Amino acid sequence: MNDRNRLRRRFLQFLASSPALYYNPYTLSQTLTDPYAPETVSRAGDAINVFDFHETAKRSLMPGHYTYMALGTDDGGTLSANREGFKRFQLRMRRLIDVSNIDTSIELFGKKYPIPIILAPCGSNKAFHPDGELAVARAAKTKNVEQILSTVTSTGVEQVNEARGRPVWYQLYPSREWTVTEALVKRAEASGCPVVALTVDLPASNREVLDRHRRATNSDCQMCHSPQANVIPQKPMYQNIELSGGRSPDGSFMDWDFVDRLRDATSMKLLLKGIVTAEDAALAVDHGVEGIIVSNHGGRAEDSGRSTIECLPEIAQSVNQRIPIIIDSGFRRGTDIFKALALGADAIAIGRPYLWGLGSFGQEGVEAVLDILKKELEIVMKQARTTHIAAIDQRFIT
Ligand SMILES: Cc1cc2nc3c(=O)[nH]c(=O)nc-3n(C[C@H](O)[C@H](O)[C@H](O)COP(=O)(O)O)c2cc1C
Repeated sequence: MNDRNRLRRRFLQFLASSPALYYNPYTLSQTLTDPYAPETVSRAGDAINVFDFHETAKRSLMPGHYTYMALGTDDGGTLSANREGFKRFQLRMRRLIDVSNIDTSIELFGKKYPIPIILAPCGSNKAFHPDGELAVARAAKTKNVEQILSTVTSTGVEQVNEARGRPVWYQLYPSREWTVTEALVKRAEASGCPVVALTVDLPASNREVLDRHRRATNSDCQMCHSPQANVIPQKPMYQNIELSGGRSPDGSFMDWDFVDRLRDATSMKLLLKGIVTAEDAALAVDHGVEGIIVSNHGGRAEDSGRSTIECLPEIAQSVNQRIPIIIDSGFRRGTDIFKALALGADAIAIGRPYLWGLGSFGQEGVEAVLDILKKELEIVMKQARTTHIAAIDQRFIT
């Protein structure tokens, strides 16, 4: 056999023993695609996890609106930290406890909810679906969860309450001028809102990412927005409120005296949204605040690089069960929710996930996101052998 034939024979022997000969298009496609990669879906019910709604919304939303939703501050350090933070905690799973029946319900401020999930306040929902906050309210009604309505909602609180079937919770951005703040609070109170959440984490907002995007896409936003530079005065909650001359929303002046003043000015329960340290949590309790939302605005406030799940242990210790703790920023999985409950939260809130659902399929998408998170929470509760929410405590986390 000459060299050429010997080589040919070796090559054929190699092929005969190679898995490539048993070519199977199914296994090949499995190895070529990432099985964890999110996919776009054409029906809400086809989504496997909430990331599928992200992928779907990304493709259907206007680029400017998508970026407004997706952005984080500066380099997005806090945005990614919010997800990475969950990896710093692991679950300690128990065995051999009957988990045939699981109860995911909680009680908060005297009301019972089927799941420990709240819809966080997000402004301008009409940027994601024409039905905007009304679609979210209808989903909140069907699933019986709480919706916190943003001050910069694209629909007035009265209409949203009607769609929800009962008054929602109201989120407050204050103005330096007390009369403006007071008018917002009185309107929410008059509409029946039982809770007001004062957002305390935005003394200054950083629009760098959004501005970069605007420049890159050369988008002047006038397809949706009227040419005036400031869209805030056009928002429904500011109807009939004069916002010129330093009266526009501004969080930079706020201090604990302001919290006291607000506490005295309303009969609504007062929550502080944006607490990230034990010191401020303790002060909140001292100032008669009725609940805390541990939040960094979903990575949109400061680029501290610190996730909320990592802030939670010190806050839970400081609050010591005196008032409810709600936490948001980065929650995407049932295991994330489980970890927060184990570390001392009473409920969690989601922002972007329900906006992804809204942007993909309106009300149905928001409902599907809540269903997926409930299902995932049930699974991990079964795996950890916890039959009800109160059973989830520090022993399940390390
Ligand atoms: C598009 C968008 C708009 C938001 N608008 C508000 C707002 O008006 N008021 C507020 O307190 N928080 C606002 N937030 C922050 C959310 O309430 C919440 O803290 C955050 O989205 C939670 O993080 P997640 O998006 O990772 O779930 C907004 C967040 C997003 C994504």
